[in-house]
Amino acid sequence: MPQRTLIRDATVVLPREVARTSVLIEGGRVAAVDPAPHSRADEVVDATGLFLLPGVIDDQVHFRDPGLTHKEDLHTGSRACAAGGVTSFLEMPNTVPQTITVDALARKLEHARRRCVVNYGFYIGATTDNLTELRQATRTPGIKIFMGSSTGNMLVDDQECLEAIFAETSLPITAHCEDESTVHANAAGLEAPLTIHDHSRIRDHRAAITATLRGIDLARRHGHRFHVLHVSTAEEAGILAERHDLITAEVCPHHLFLDVSDYGRLGTLAQMNPSLKTPEDRAALWRGLKEGAIQIIATDHAPHTLEEKDVPYPASPSGVPAVEVMLPLMLNEVNRGRCTLQDLAAWMSDGPARIWDIVGKGRIEEGYDADLVLVDMERERAVRNEEQLTKSGWSPWHGTVLKGWPVRTWVGGRTVFAGGRVTREPVGREIVFDHARGGYWATRG
Ligand code: DOR
Repeated sequence: MPQRTLIRDATVVLPREVARTSVLIEGGRVAAVDPAPHSRADEVVDATGLFLLPGVIDDQVHFRDPGLTHKEDLHTGSRACAAGGVTSFLEMPNTVPQTITVDALARKLEHARRRCVVNYGFYIGATTDNLTELRQATRTPGIKIFMGSSTGNMLVDDQECLEAIFAETSLPITAHCEDESTVHANAAGLEAPLTIHDHSRIRDHRAAITATLRGIDLARRHGHRFHVLHVSTAEEAGILAERHDLITAEVCPHHLFLDVSDYGRLGTLAQMNPSLKTPEDRAALWRGLKEGAIQIIATDHAPHTLEEKDVPYPASPSGVPAVEVMLPLMLNEVNRGRCTLQDLAAWMSDGPARIWDIVGKGRIEEGYDADLVLVDMERERAVRNEEQLTKSGWSPWHGTVLKGWPVRTWVGGRTVFAGGRVTREPVGREIVFDHARGGYWATRG
């Protein structure tokens, strides 16, 4: 590995400006932005015409490892991240076994150390009876609650249990918000045979809004930090517009780029939880993101094989893979003028780092980790199933032409993706969280 790398003459997305300059990497960190001319370097990367962004931090992925590794594993999932400019991921606990004890968390971290091409962190999952574990866990971004059932049988929707989790733990809490009784009542009202179009009737607006309001109410009453995962409706974006110092939220690419009108084309490939909503919801989610009601974007990368997805609804599993395409989808929007590269750095790097108190990541700044992605804003190509590195081997955006692609990714100063090739070396490191920082609203923007 070169000791010192100079990325020369890039257009660099810095915390407060976008500047044509150079970045010097040393010891895995950003040693200097705009270093002295003729700084000594072991490797010089001519980045003329290219843009340098902080690596993407994806705070919601399902890498299925351990237990469901025919869909994905930590190695394949992290390689897909590298190709997509994602340099750090936070993974969900609905694996087999579930990550619901301090011991399971430690085992996952140890496994990841030997497998991951990018940096990693793992949530601890809440159950109806693991309060002691939730209170003892330290090496984690926070507690995940499935306040609505999805893949993996981790539902916690008993009010007493939820009250206890919010009252008696101190880690940040994040939740899947879809109200279980609403979902059941909606399903009971429909006649068989169901089709994929019914997915958005069963997991409807009311289900999402009810659960999000419930989570916000718990957070406010208990004074507990709370992050709403995958917001899918205009109403939730409206509720979240009322800024609250304890509450943050995210939106996923599928809810920004797809809606119920895509079921006809994609069938169960467009099945995910929360479900797709209307074109009006999509527009409101974009507005919520741009106006700050929603602070970040994350993939909810949820791989299932094409054979599994091909089973008729409702037996088909929910979830879509996305770590390789989230950044290109957003770069394409920058090219279309819908947002800026600085927006992307805030929504996909600095924002998640602040929400989860991640140490040394999310910005291109002296002393920060050299987790970087170089992008070519002129590069235009189609997303292709056969090129996906996710083990699931498909993308709902197959065939979509996007302009703006990552061309090189560094993790801790080491190149993990370049020239279309991704390393197999487990270069990734365990992400360090410092929860005393107090989260998004307590830190500088
Ligand atoms: O569609 C989804 N799939 N939503 C989730 O919340 C879970 C995920 C999965 O793990 O498959």
